[in-house]
Amino acid sequence: MGISELIHVPEDFKTQFPWLVEAKFFDKLDSTQARVVQWLPKEANGAVLVIGESQTKGMGRQGRFWVSPPGGIWFTLALPIRGLTPVQLGAFSVVAALEVTNSLKEIYNLEAKIKWPNDIQYNGKKVGGILLNTITKFKQSWLLIGVGINVNNDIPGDLSDSATSIKIIRGQFQGRTRLIEAVLGHIWNSWTDFGNTGFGPYKNLVESKLSGVGKTIKILMGKKATSGTLMGLDLQGGLLLKSNAQTKTINAGEIVGIL
Ligand code: BTN
Repeated sequence: MGISELIHVPEDFKTQFPWLVEAKFFDKLDSTQARVVQWLPKEANGAVLVIGESQTKGMGRQGRFWVSPPGGIWFTLALPIRGLTPVQLGAFSVVAALEVTNSLKEIYNLEAKIKWPNDIQYNGKKVGGILLNTITKFKQSWLLIGVGINVNNDIPGDLSDSATSIKIIRGQFQGRTRLIEAVLGHIWNSWTDFGNTGFGPYKNLVESKLSGVGKTIKILMGKKATSGTLMGLDLQGGLLLKSNAQTKTINAGEIVGIL
């Protein structure tokens, strides 16, 4: 399965996506997010991609371990940052989630949702996640977009209440290459547009895919919890939370409950 299906992909990708200056495939590696750094070139004239068939030290948000056995999609796309502020980069994390949900719809006809800021869910279970980091190398800043999607990989028993895979959802083994291609293409196109447009044109699109709009949600910011009605997003991709007739914006944290 998987390994032979993916092994030649990086060479194809460089032809198919001329904006990729480097594409590396590993059968097994620690973490694509950690490993991509070594391939970042001095001349930042394109993106760098690292795909792993499996990861031994997959990194999730908030320092969590990300289970990444063979059969899933685990990659990091490094994009050279030009002129975007940290707030704009934060908003792009929501856009990246939108592009993953758009790709799931396009390739598998799946109506996935976004649990702010960038969990990908199907029927309330996590099917994918995105990790964003920034790094500077050779005086150039890069945005590292780590994408993890459960496709054919097994879901460990202790995660089966909260996570699912595309194979489980669709009831059979699924090809991965078209989905990887779709996600890469969509993220790159948004990245090139986003520099000009900002988050504005994406706001309604993301809101239409957001889990919990109009519902009471509980959100954790570090150790601090708050709750309120999820009203939507602001123009920077922050979450608008209404409680006691006041609406506040949440820029960091994660939704831990939708009631
Ligand atoms: C999350 O916690 O929801 C984010 C998970 C991100 C996982 C991906 S898999 C590819 C890339 N490499 C990593 O080590 N993590 C990200």
